[in-house]
Amino acid sequence: MKLLITGGAGFIGSHVVRRMVKAYGQYSIVNLDALTYAGNLANLADVQDEPNYRFVKGDITDKAFIRQLFLDEQFDGVIHLAAESHVDRSISGPDAFIQTNVVGTANLLNAAVESWKGNMEGKRFYHVSTDEVFGSLGETGMFSETTAYDPRSPYSASKAASDHLVRAYHHTYGLPVIISNCSNNYGSHHFPEKLIPLIINNIKNKRPLPVYGKGENIRDWLWVEDHARAIDVIFHRGCSGETYCIGGNNEWKNIDVVKLLCKLMDDKLGRSAGESEQLITYVTDRPGHDARYAIDATKLKNELGWEPTQPFETLLSQTIDWYLANETWLDQVTSGNYRNYYEQQYNR
Ligand code: NAD
Ligand code: DAU
Repeated sequence: MKLLITGGAGFIGSHVVRRMVKAYGQYSIVNLDALTYAGNLANLADVQDEPNYRFVKGDITDKAFIRQLFLDEQFDGVIHLAAESHVDRSISGPDAFIQTNVVGTANLLNAAVESWKGNMEGKRFYHVSTDEVFGSLGETGMFSETTAYDPRSPYSASKAASDHLVRAYHHTYGLPVIISNCSNNYGSHHFPEKLIPLIINNIKNKRPLPVYGKGENIRDWLWVEDHARAIDVIFHRGCSGETYCIGGNNEWKNIDVVKLLCKLMDDKLGRSAGESEQLITYVTDRPGHDARYAIDATKLKNELGWEPTQPFETLLSQTIDWYLANETWLDQVTSGNYRNYYEQQYNR
């Protein structure tokens, strides 16, 4: 198996690469990543010298480069994670999302069709997507594989467009594709522009904890290593042409997640009870902020036996420990451009 993983230097991608490199010594695994602000090879320091692993720096929006890579490498499988992934950045600058998420995905699909033409047997193109393509839920109900698409941010619209392209290439060209749509991930190596690592970093540094609106929006949190395990299972045992929803069965209001982080970190940092909660600051809401996400992952459980690890508090506590033990990583990724981003996003 010659396997291409795109976006492997990012948050989820690095967990997928690590899992695959360790579990499948007989595979030849290529990690293709452009190393944008969100990509960091330090995320993969523990596997970088493994004989079944190779890193290639490259941009999926570069059509000629992608075409040549597929012709040279003759991949058998693709797990596609490379994307612009942060909703707030998609609001202030949607163009990069359309380029990477839509055009970049189309380039990969075209290259796969060309390289696998006449021999699709045993090949697999796995597209990693998000639950945000389904839009926003009211107080009840859950997203599932049959939910109609209703994306509402430039990020989710670009991911929805890429999902549609992937399915169209299956129906039109017979490309053996699989799609999964997953809920919010948390865990180690998460870039601190996203809620959980940003709040951990700010509590650590006694900075204001920005909560959008009233903090009542709900997300379904899944441990990133559970997502990587689901991707492994679906890549190897899922059915071509199928979609699988992946979720944590773990809905939390944002304000409750922030308060739980404050409590856990006050204990760990030897601060008095309630000290970090004083840092909570309600800020202007995200435009078009989706109210609630929740995934019904019954199909994945019934067909492939996957279930999330629990409980959330224990895994969140482990996650905090990782950030506290990896100060250099945190300092590195929050230097330079991060400061400019933070200034623009939060000090408007
Ligand atoms: P991330 O932003 O942490 O990582 C994205 C990676 O893609 C980075 O390493 C970056 O360098 C790379 N990349 C970006 N543009 C590229 C380009 N043009 N060419 C090559 N590489 C490029 O993202 P993440 O949170 O790890 O998400 C990974 C995938 O999972 C995305 O497709 C995202 O939509 C999806 N997803 C994320 C979540 C979540 O909670 N984070 C949930 C469901 C689905
Ligand atoms: O649902 C899956 C999606 O989850 C992925 O597809 C995206 O790539 C990923 O970024 C994530 O999107 P969200 O917008 O849900 O995640 P984020 O961490 O940005 O925000 C989580 C919630 O917290 C959301 O309701 C907005 C809120 N929030 C976020 C930030 C960054 C705040 O209140 N304050 C903040 O500073």
